[in-house]
Amino acid sequence: METTKREKIVKLLASTDVEREVVVKGWVRTKRSGKSVSFIALNDGSTINNIQVVIESDNFDEEMLKNITTGACVKVVGKLVQSQGAGQGVEVQATAIELYGTADAETYPLQKKGHTLEFLREIAHLRPRTNTFGAVFRVRHAMAYAIHKFFNDRGFYYWHSPIVTASDCEGAGAMFQVTTLPVGGAPLNEEGAVDYSQDFFGRPTNLTVSGQLEGELGAMALGEIYTFGPTFRAENSNTPRHLAEFWMIEPEMAFYEIADNMDLAEDMLKYLITYALENCADDLAFLEKMYDKELTSRLKGVVAGNFERLTYTEAVEILEKSGQKFEFPVGWGNDLQSEHERYLVEQHFGRPVILTDYPKEIKSFYMKLNEDGKTVRGMDVLFPKIGEIIGGSERESDLDKLLARMDEIGVPQREMQWYLDTRRFGTAPHSGFGLGFERLILFVTGMTNIRDVIPFPRTPGSANF
Ligand code: 4AD
Ligand code: MG
Repeated sequence: METTKREKIVKLLASTDVEREVVVKGWVRTKRSGKSVSFIALNDGSTINNIQVVIESDNFDEEMLKNITTGACVKVVGKLVQSQGAGQGVEVQATAIELYGTADAETYPLQKKGHTLEFLREIAHLRPRTNTFGAVFRVRHAMAYAIHKFFNDRGFYYWHSPIVTASDCEGAGAMFQVTTLPVGGAPLNEEGAVDYSQDFFGRPTNLTVSGQLEGELGAMALGEIYTFGPTFRAENSNTPRHLAEFWMIEPEMAFYEIADNMDLAEDMLKYLITYALENCADDLAFLEKMYDKELTSRLKGVVAGNFERLTYTEAVEILEKSGQKFEFPVGWGNDLQSEHERYLVEQHFGRPVILTDYPKEIKSFYMKLNEDGKTVRGMDVLFPKIGEIIGGSERESDLDKLLARMDEIGVPQREMQWYLDTRRFGTAPHSGFGLGFERLILFVTGMTNIRDVIPFPRTPGSANF
């Protein structure tokens, strides 16, 4: 029975080489039983589409056939034939079946169709078996692959910034601490504070909120690098766009000024969306049908036109003149909220927007100060349905200006000498940005909750499995 190797359903469905023996293995999506023939729709995760397995009841053990229910896992040996049914390419006429695992119809959570996404989140161990999550996670994989391909083709190096760090890149007090000291009864020093010299690293450490600062060291040596790894933020943001653990892609490039940075961001996003349209057509068609009727037209729209580029100051003027009622106030110096960003993108311009030159007070210490002394060369890329998908900047490459800004904000310099050394020795203009991977997947799949585009979502109060 083992002479023929298992073939993936995605390959079989496209095969014209019929009338031969094949082996398929997968999970039963549905079974229809007639008097003498049963039909199984089998899925192995390689495609949204199922292959039909035709079973002549007389040739098989009745008890075994009864146990092949929705969710069960089977190996089927059979003949690949052109299907009789309309609209179907090929099917498998079973000659031998091995039941790997049953799925008790009484208790199998996915026995019925039409579960809500919220319900499925509670059974994260099984939700990849649904059509929706199979599609989403295949697209997620394709996007990860395309990101590596995009950068590799352009001579960027994949740079691994650390997960455990001793620095706080974004200057926010929103980090997960990493320690081996006991939660209660940590050793204290003479001042009565926790004695971190006894901790694993001999100092306080945390999970990284961004790989950027370490990425800058890579760029200032290898030229063009990118990171692609998990990042962690302990902010209490319970929104459909925030995760406590999310993946970020952070390219960092020596000799790039802000305009080059914008060009790269726009090229990358268009490349990735084009890649999805070309390589994930079946999954996108399913998601469009089920969740978002405008999905492909929105994706194509982003690829077709240029992104609108304007300054923060110009954007604030547009918002002030818009006559729109916003929940959060608009005014120069205020950070833009998702509702403002989406107004600009969806109502005003009808295309993605890149905003630049934000007030220095609302951006991080490392952004290059403009001549006006008030704004910095930061950039945010804003997308329909998403709001901010990318945040980045040209970096302050002048040591004195950087030190002055760190003093102003109160970023401790003692801890940052390793970073400041890039400005001390062979400094150069450089730029970079961070793309939130799950926000990209949200956009590409048309899903609306970020919890539904990552296999195991971590959000405030929720870290199941
Ligand atoms: O704008 P952010 O905070 O920028 C940085 O971290 C910079 N160090 C990036 C850089 O210049 N290298 O985050 C970048 C992107 C955001 O635009 C957003 O897409 C995503 O990361 N992001 C989140 N995604 C999911 N959950 C969260 N809590 C996120 N916070 C940021
Ligand atoms: Mg940001």
